[in-house]
Amino acid sequence: MRISVFGCGYLGAVHAAAMAELGHQVVGIDVDPLKIDSLAKGQAPFFEPGLAELLERGIRSGALTFSTDPEAARGAAVHFIAVGTPQQADGAADLRFVHAALDAVLAIAQPGDVVVGKSTVPVGTAHALRSAVEQAGARLAWNPEFLREGFAVRDSLEPDRIVYGVAEGDTTSAAVLDRVYAELLIAGSPRMVTDLATAELVKVAANAFLATKISFINAMAEIAEVVGADVTQLADAIGHDARIGRRFLNAGIGFGGGCLPKDIRGFVARAEELGVGPALDFLRDVDAVNLRRRDRVVALTREALGGTLRGRRIAVLGLAFKPDSDDVRDSPALDVARRLAAEGARVVATDPAAVETARPVAPALDYRAGVIEAVTAADAVLVLTEWQQYRELDPVALAALVGGRIVIDGRLCLDAQRWQAAGWQYLSPGRITDRSRALLGV
Ligand code: UGA
Repeated sequence: MRISVFGCGYLGAVHAAAMAELGHQVVGIDVDPLKIDSLAKGQAPFFEPGLAELLERGIRSGALTFSTDPEAARGAAVHFIAVGTPQQADGAADLRFVHAALDAVLAIAQPGDVVVGKSTVPVGTAHALRSAVEQAGARLAWNPEFLREGFAVRDSLEPDRIVYGVAEGDTTSAAVLDRVYAELLIAGSPRMVTDLATAELVKVAANAFLATKISFINAMAEIAEVVGADVTQLADAIGHDARIGRRFLNAGIGFGGGCLPKDIRGFVARAEELGVGPALDFLRDVDAVNLRRRDRVVALTREALGGTLRGRRIAVLGLAFKPDSDDVRDSPALDVARRLAAEGARVVATDPAAVETARPVAPALDYRAGVIEAVTAADAVLVLTEWQQYRELDPVALAALVGGRIVIDGRLCLDAQRWQAAGWQYLSPGRITDRSRALLGV
């Protein structure tokens, strides 16, 4: 099938490449010529394992092209809208890019085409856009995307579910989308057809649930700290209950990134507009618990260094919002690093992928290429993104380089006993700390 994808950011670039991999003829459209240049050369403009290979295969076979000119999408039967919906100052989603992309699509769409929204939007958006699409003789469907950064290729090619929202009386769009995803459906991905509003809600509800799960365990971490309990063991124990499940129960410095924080705030704002604000009041607490984790790690570092950070040298390992990503949007790690610097610490930071994305956002940090350069002579070492290479660090070797053997495990990803055995003072949110020891007299 001939397919266009409007918006070649994270979502759109991966989706375009995945559609080409499924055997379609795909054109990706974006207003940013730098992004299009890079994608057209097969280079992913962001770090995503496996994406460069997918792009290269699509481009080499001729199935995948990119353009800044919407005219290049003329003739495609299915037009995906995959632009960003950033957060406005009041928390609500900014739909400017969705409207601009839709205008561009409608300028070239032919009667009978299907316009498919993939962007995360406030519930009710599709309903509001529908008449403009139908006036052009086309149909509107909503097909939310659930891919995770770092696993985007796998999530696109082996999705755990495919959801299409279609308008009342539209019996065609689902059949068209079944052809788009035929290979995935044959491979067994579950598919659901819903109305437009349900499809929009599925996306934000899923992200709100994931955020709630993370904040739940981080709230337990707050309790664990004062009673001397271990939140990781707690998560392991409750996670054995299949109704709860162990995934997304990792406590630490909380969630960040371009989706979860923005989506819960947008959802709260939308519920208020709809007159059902109280239904989502709990998401404000989810947000607050999450942000408190960052305060906690800064406080823990200050306490460990004797009450002030001024003039202390602190190594920060990890800047991305999660491992296997170079994304620092709303990154808890970068936020903590900046706060330490704002309190007068000299923050020497590194990350396997995110140094160059962090640098323009936080120019005050002292960036280094690797762990050894970052930790040398540091008074404390903070692990803030759980990259596999940080989990595997050798505490004995590092002990010889640092100025002070204090390690703060912001992601609860290190083997505490191993670090303690190598002479380190090991501290982390949600595990027994000196403070809880003192409180308990143990
Ligand atoms: C999230 C959702 O997981 C995807 O399903 C969704 O499609 C995507 O948003 C989106 O809306 O586009 P992503 O932002 O890539 O995906 O990242 P996650 O893997 O969900 O992680 C989000 C944050 O939560 C990270 O900062 C991560 O470190 C943190 N996290 C995750 C925890 O603190 N604890 C956990 O147990 C899991």
